[in-house]
Amino acid sequence: MNVHDSEKMAGILKAEGYAETAYTENADLIIFNTCSIRQKAEQKFRSELGRIKVLKSKNPLLKIAVAGCIAQQKGRDIFKRNPHVDYVFGPQNIHKLSAMLTTNAMVCIEDNPEIQHTNLPAERKENVKAWVSIMYGCDNFCSYCIVPYTRGRERSRPGQNIYEEIHELAEKGFKEVTLLGQNVNSYSSDTNFPGLLRKIDTIKGIERIRFVTSHPRDLSYELISCIKELPKVCEHIHLPLQSGSDRILKLMNRGYTYEDYIEKIRKLKESIPNIAITTDLIAGFPSETDNEHSMTMKALRNIEFDGIFAFKFSPRQGTKAAEMEESINEEIMSQRLNEILGLQDDITLRKNESLKGTLQEVLVEGASKTDKDRMTGRTRTNKIVNFVGDELLSGWLVNVEIRTAMRHSLEGRLFSKHSLDAYGLDLKHKVKHL
Ligand code: 5AD
Ligand code: SF4
Repeated sequence: MNVHDSEKMAGILKAEGYAETAYTENADLIIFNTCSIRQKAEQKFRSELGRIKVLKSKNPLLKIAVAGCIAQQKGRDIFKRNPHVDYVFGPQNIHKLSAMLTTNAMVCIEDNPEIQHTNLPAERKENVKAWVSIMYGCDNFCSYCIVPYTRGRERSRPGQNIYEEIHELAEKGFKEVTLLGQNVNSYSSDTNFPGLLRKIDTIKGIERIRFVTSHPRDLSYELISCIKELPKVCEHIHLPLQSGSDRILKLMNRGYTYEDYIEKIRKLKESIPNIAITTDLIAGFPSETDNEHSMTMKALRNIEFDGIFAFKFSPRQGTKAAEMEESINEEIMSQRLNEILGLQDDITLRKNESLKGTLQEVLVEGASKTDKDRMTGRTRTNKIVNFVGDELLSGWLVNVEIRTAMRHSLEGRLFSKHSLDAYGLDLKHKVKHL
């Protein structure tokens, strides 16, 4: 979401005549788009902000802005500790960027009840996949999370505006969109979320539709049917579990039990047998016992996710969890996190290995960053696939036979029509463009 916010800032600046420089020391404007989801992100920002201070003495015209969730939380206080900062603006005030730059010093952190109607021109670096905002803010108040405080109340963008943006992207040649919201399942405007997906599925030129993030409590059977039936909606869902213990889930204010979650997983797997499921987990939430941690480990073994993001609990000022007693010491927290990551590594590898010998539809994104002779893309289930191929394949859907499986990616061979015949398979209908 933050990366997409940066694309919007870049879009506004481009319209103002700014151009991006590859060298920080040449810049006349530097914007830090900050994240405060965990302490680690905050620390990185603080050291970077200190590091660029000297640039101001070299270039007196240089302006420095702090945007994003840290800006929203700290507001004017940022000036006190960092007098070299000129502007502070939160994630709900990106639309004010150009007006702000005409003033000398400014703080923009007020609530923006009209954010769902701001259609900002995003300047995207990639040309195959695009992020598209469908909602802003969050009303869930999970006890550990800062987002409802920094991004404000949940607001859904009108379907027509979303449709028009994606239609334009399709005309520019984009093939995939990822719909963005903290809780897309509670999207509610002129339609609900499944209704929105049905509408987007009709846009010519778009081949794949993805969405993040789904809240397990609001995942409806209607949405499961949509993933199953709509041809462009990919067979992948990111469904953050956070913990395998009901007591911890309750303390987290997640609004579901482990059994509720499993029931949704069962339904998803039953309706869409090849679906990939990924999740987020927090290790060492306040008062989490060894036994409760084991429940999370057991959940990993039972569900067999395709991938996870796991984090140590990080107390965020102003949230309920930050006030909770019985915090878990750092060492135990690290140990639990490592156990989670280690177990999942084996599961991910095993799952990837099961794809060896299969043909996968891959949307080619471009040349691999590490090897220019190889192309990289993703399966519908969001797994990275590298294969030897021509750069001209960028933006095309091709079939790739998976040969090697690793933890974070797959290696394959481009499947030509000729080899399809050799296999005696009638898969031509699956090779959509090649
Ligand atoms: N500490 C650790 N992890 C957190 N997340 C959100 N807030 C915190 C926190 N205070 C994680 C959750 C969420 C993901 C985006 O970040 O797992 O799903
Ligand atoms: Fe944070 Fe919970 Fe909202 Fe996700 S659903 S952004 S974890 S409060």
